[in-house]
Amino acid sequence: MKIDGVPYRSLWWNKEQQALEIIDQRWLPHEFRTRLLTEMQDFVDAIYQMQVRGAPLIGATAAYGMALAMANDPSDANLDAAWKALEQTRPTAINLRWALNRCRAVLSDLTKGERAARALGLAQEIAEEDVETNRQLGQQGLPLIEQIAAQKAPGEPVRILTHCNAGWLATVDWGTATSPIYQAHEAGIPLLVWVDETRPRNQGALTAWELGKQGIAHRYITDNAGGHLMQQGQVDLVITGTDRTTRRGDVCNKIGTYLKALAAWDNQIPFYVALPSSTIDWTVSDGLAAIPIERRDAEEVTLVQGASQRGAIASVRVTPAQSEAENPAFDVTPNRLITGLITERGLCDASEQGLASLFPEFAAATAE
Ligand code: MRU
Repeated sequence: MKIDGVPYRSLWWNKEQQALEIIDQRWLPHEFRTRLLTEMQDFVDAIYQMQVRGAPLIGATAAYGMALAMANDPSDANLDAAWKALEQTRPTAINLRWALNRCRAVLSDLTKGERAARALGLAQEIAEEDVETNRQLGQQGLPLIEQIAAQKAPGEPVRILTHCNAGWLATVDWGTATSPIYQAHEAGIPLLVWVDETRPRNQGALTAWELGKQGIAHRYITDNAGGHLMQQGQVDLVITGTDRTTRRGDVCNKIGTYLKALAAWDNQIPFYVALPSSTIDWTVSDGLAAIPIERRDAEEVTLVQGASQRGAIASVRVTPAQSEAENPAFDVTPNRLITGLITERGLCDASEQGLASLFPEFAAATAE
């Protein structure tokens, strides 16, 4: 997507430096900074510290991490060590393990001399596939927005609520939840996006930044406002992303997604989840029982980062110094609360039959 008219992706391979260049998301929306990842520890830190974040993007970043590891030392021992170091960075999003397993499966069959070049090629393929998959899922989701627009008076916007950042910054490009939104905007449909703040890390500010750069009307709202807006008839559609989707269509996404699904259910508002198939964990059925929920540092809750009126970025405490905090980073929305899933192959029910109808080859390969 474009930033001030210049096309960008959230990461790219820097040929001169033989390193991965990323947009360091810790500083957005206040400052646009990029960063080179040149060593394995840089990749581990980038994913753990959320310099890069969002399920598809951490998968692609990890694939480049494997490429760097193979360029440095293509031995079997280093292949295993790199897989382990990257895999332990974040536990919930399945794309991370999906990308790492894909790399290890291909690379372990090669000679040491072949590994470095193939690993970089594979990382590029994973990144390119992510872009194309997200473009396609946007095409598949677009009719949902077109149908609502067709019932509106001319010029009246379709009002879409989204949670967290499932935008292009969370993927290599397009985003997942935002892909139908960007494509609706390109098709000339008037939109108003309600952007959940998404405490504690305020990923909503990333979504607001993205939407602003594309010229899409949006309003930033506190996490508690969505239910009220739904009761007032001010939300036509909810679209979120997901970090892991189970084979029966339970969805694990940023903390607070479940509450929005409950409110949408109570107000009969369609609640859709957009996902590339790399986000489906075919080995898991019951999301509540089986998905590990990342618990992050309590300081992400007790401190808030922002910019002063003079533009200086600072972290301020919002709690009494002695108060302890808890920081579960994701929650599970059961499939019964989800109107449908938007994938690169089409829309389906959030159910085992729905997903199997679109991805029969994966469903069959993992059938119990
Ligand atoms: O903790 P984060 O910022 O990595 O969490 C990101 C999300 O929860 C996104 O909604 C999810 O990864 C889908 S992104 C396309």
